[in-house]
Amino acid sequence: MAKNSSITRWVSLFMFVVAHLASSILAEDGLVANGDFETSPSHGFPSESIADGPTEIPSWKLNGTVELVSSGQKQGGMILIVPQGSHAVRLGNDAEISQEVRVEKGSTYSVTFSAARTCAQLESLNVSVPPASQTIDLQTLYNVQGWDPYAWAFEAEDDNVKLLFKNPGMEDDPTCGPIIDDIAIKKLFAPDKPKDNAVVNGDFEEGPWMFRNVSLGVLLPTNLDEETSSLPGWIVESNRAVRYIDSYHYSVPQGKRAIELLSGKEGIISQMVETTANKDYSLTFSLGHAGDKCKQPLAVMAFAGDQAQIVHYTEDANSTFHDANVNFTAKADRTRIAFYSVYYNTRTDDMSSLCGPVVDDVRVWFSGSSKIVFGRLGLGLGVGFWLLVLVLF
Ligand SMILES: *[C@@H]1O[C@H](CO)[C@@H](O)[C@H](O)[C@H]1NC(C)=O
Ligand SMILES: *[C@@H]1O[C@H](CO)[C@@H](O)[C@H](O)[C@H]1NC(C)=O
Ligand SMILES: *[C@@H]1O[C@H](CO)[C@@H](O)[C@H](O)[C@H]1NC(C)=O
Ligand SMILES: *[C@@H]1O[C@H](CO)[C@@H](O)[C@H](O)[C@H]1NC(C)=O
Ligand SMILES: *[C@@H]1O[C@H](CO)[C@@H](O)[C@H](O)[C@H]1NC(C)=O
Repeated sequence: MAKNSSITRWVSLFMFVVAHLASSILAEDGLVANGDFETSPSHGFPSESIADGPTEIPSWKLNGTVELVSSGQKQGGMILIVPQGSHAVRLGNDAEISQEVRVEKGSTYSVTFSAARTCAQLESLNVSVPPASQTIDLQTLYNVQGWDPYAWAFEAEDDNVKLLFKNPGMEDDPTCGPIIDDIAIKKLFAPDKPKDNAVVNGDFEEGPWMFRNVSLGVLLPTNLDEETSSLPGWIVESNRAVRYIDSYHYSVPQGKRAIELLSGKEGIISQMVETTANKDYSLTFSLGHAGDKCKQPLAVMAFAGDQAQIVHYTEDANSTFHDANVNFTAKADRTRIAFYSVYYNTRTDDMSSLCGPVVDDVRVWFSGSSKIVFGRLGLGLGVGFWLLVLVLF
């Protein structure tokens, strides 16, 4: 008896230490624990198990009708979409999955996940890290694969947060409801303010987690809060998403990342940049083709303060992009710059995946003062040259 209770004590102490160690491990960039739903439940995946038991998904807490689905699984004659690997999870009406994630209080994180809808009805997904939450509309299909990766950002108010996905829907058909897969997290860094450029993260290099082997980019849905944006510095103002693309799968003008604008006026990115009133500025950017068979013509509407200009992408055999600029005079100490696609473009191969012009390397700089500097420099060099000529001869 006494021996038994001492063993129990040791076991519980051991479990306490293990639990403590586990909970003190900071989330690393990449998949969260069993974020791809490929870890087998103790009784095997539902498709392989004989007995019907309550659904169990390692590392996740479930509430409501949550189902592990397997690739190739059919429902009502339709094959269910599993974005990556062999398994994904489906949330029924009002169902949710959650897990605790250890983060750094005060830091901003971005969560990347893949989502698909199962029925034609309007489906949406509520992603939250209470008290922050966002409902993402899955009605628009951005590509013919039937699923898309999305990103959403939150600021950690605590060291331990609860990452929660919920289907807020109440469909008549309880087997409807979004499928999710590949849930990853990334700590975002506030990019430095460059000296000669008023635009923060103008090269779009800082952004959400992207899986190296996922070729669909990451959709950035509406986000009116520039402080908590998956794309630091930028706001997605529109009700439709823009696509964050990488150089592994797309043509990117500069660095490894850029933005592809989709859905015409319904996909707008913007930033408020610091300016000085009454000074002349130049907004310059790279305008390109993503190399994704997007049907031309491609063009952007670029805004800088009170200037709005349509810039057409002109094809060049040697490059997938060219530079563009808009000159403006600042009216205040903050100026809004923004971009949207002039056309609604789709890919030429499937005629339905959304695509559009690529914007990268956005800069805003004094054009007035740099002209003066160059003028003086030119004058200085000229005088110097003639002095040199005089001395030599
Ligand atoms: C489970 O979901 C229901 C309905 O949304 C909610 O009322 C309940 O509080 C949830 N339970 C837990 C443990 O979160
Ligand atoms: C989304 O979920 C969070 C956390 O459960 C909740 O506070 C919020 O009200 C939900 N939002 C919507 C639109 O249902
Ligand atoms: C993508 O890469 C991850 C690891 O980074 C791997 O687990 C997964 O199986 C890969 N998926 C495909 C479709 O290759
Ligand atoms: C492309 O590059 C080739 C070789 O460098 C050059 O001859 C040609 O003029 C370039 N074409 C364009 C449109 O710039
Ligand atoms: C903007 O001004 C620069 C000179 O500062 C000039 O080279 C350029 O053509 C102007 N751009 C437009 C679109 O007017």
